Amino acid sequence: MSSCPHFFVMPYPILGHMNPLLQFSHVLATHGCKITFLITEFNQKRMKSETDHLGEHIKFVTLPDGLDPEDDRSDQPKVILSLRSTMPSKLHKLIQDINALGCDNKITCIVVSKNIGWALEVGHELGIKGAFLWPASATTLASFESIPRLIDEGIIDCQTGLPTRRQEIQLLPNSPMMDTANLPWCSLGKNFFLHMVEDTQSLKLGEWWLCNTTCDLEPGALAMSPRLLPIGPLMQTDTNKSWFWKEDSTCLYWLDQHPPQSVVYVSFGSLALMDPNQFKELALGLDLLNRPFLWVVRPNIDNNNNKETSDSYPHEFHGSKGKIIGWAPQKKILNHPSIACFVTHCGWNSIIEGVCGGIPFLCWPFFSDQFLNKSYICDVWKVGVGLEKDENGLISKGEIRKKVEQLVGNEDIKARSLKLKELTVDNSAEGGPSSKNLEKFINWAKDYNG
Ligand code: UDX
Repeated sequence: MSSCPHFFVMPYPILGHMNPLLQFSHVLATHGCKITFLITEFNQKRMKSETDHLGEHIKFVTLPDGLDPEDDRSDQPKVILSLRSTMPSKLHKLIQDINALGCDNKITCIVVSKNIGWALEVGHELGIKGAFLWPASATTLASFESIPRLIDEGIIDCQTGLPTRRQEIQLLPNSPMMDTANLPWCSLGKNFFLHMVEDTQSLKLGEWWLCNTTCDLEPGALAMSPRLLPIGPLMQTDTNKSWFWKEDSTCLYWLDQHPPQSVVYVSFGSLALMDPNQFKELALGLDLLNRPFLWVVRPNIDNNNNKETSDSYPHEFHGSKGKIIGWAPQKKILNHPSIACFVTHCGWNSIIEGVCGGIPFLCWPFFSDQFLNKSYICDVWKVGVGLEKDENGLISKGEIRKKVEQLVGNEDIKARSLKLKELTVDNSAEGGPSSKNLEKFINWAKDYNG
């Protein structure tokens, strides 16, 4: 074999996994490693940018996800089951074909994200080592690992994962208190829960468990899972791609026209869907602000059965102080001096990106790990505040205006955000703990590759 390791990188096919695994691939490539990056055929057809600028070290390959083109891929349990039942044999063959291309091409290690632990079993059958890169928080992973304990203590039901009764618990010794109704799997259904328990077992085949976090952000969770190595923040290169929606960079010039710390950035990641009434209330809330806003309105975010999103804006909405775009160059935005705060759904990638920009957060979690992530922002790091629903279950326009002003005027939060940025970014600098962990991993692959 050659001494240049060849990684087969396989994210679960949602953007929140594809982005960090692609960033990780770039880091490996800068260390001279070769990467084969798997995406599903469906996702490849949706891609809005070319893959040829990724350089000679990263090659894309595709496999079908087993679903029909018109199937609903926002139904995660359905996607998970389809991948599990149709992809393993195809993956087996694809890897054999790649390995057959010659000694220099042999795959050294398969790197997967969550929900596809079976891919490590395929690697195991072929005698290939595996690694697991968890793209969300270490605390969320620790919560999955604490499922047997939660069942033993009667806190959740062993078949559904749902709480036996609603209560506040502390998942880990140093983590914030949380409502059992917000445990990360509760919003995703019974099938997802059962799969996840099984998947966490398969992932144990991974010789390395890596996580896009740092020892300063989540010391408690990392202490609980000593095998999990922090390698974050994965921010070294601006590699986020226009995977599914075309990035609108004109907003960067628009931001240049605004004074420092004046613009409210609003974005809810790639999966969250907003009820049309809530969408209207948000629009009116942004109009009420005495400051400019940059709002990412992803096509169909308002869940309106593919009608034009413009149908969903209320008649009274002016939007004159704002700019609305379909998809943003988010990392660049979060590092732009004009940004005052980030209204976010609390997806882990958005949080890491916001922390690295030193930006205060206004938290609006939708599902899964996002509630737990919000607790870290508001209660542990204290770099943001949360939005509260009213008696009708809506986040009102008044609440949006009140919390934005509260947040933007809070000098303590601003100072803590800048401090957290420094602490976090230093982890990936040369000699920092995350960069040492990455080096260990790469050296292992080089030694093993021989
Ligand atoms: C999913 C889950 O929803 C989330 O709970 C989990 O923590 C990670 O996986 P997603 O909802 O897409 O992810 O959110 P997030 O993790 O924040 O990832 C979104 C990514 O899209 C970020 O890397 C962000 O930079 C990028 N993005 C978002 C853009 O590039 N442009 C945009 O306009 C919006």
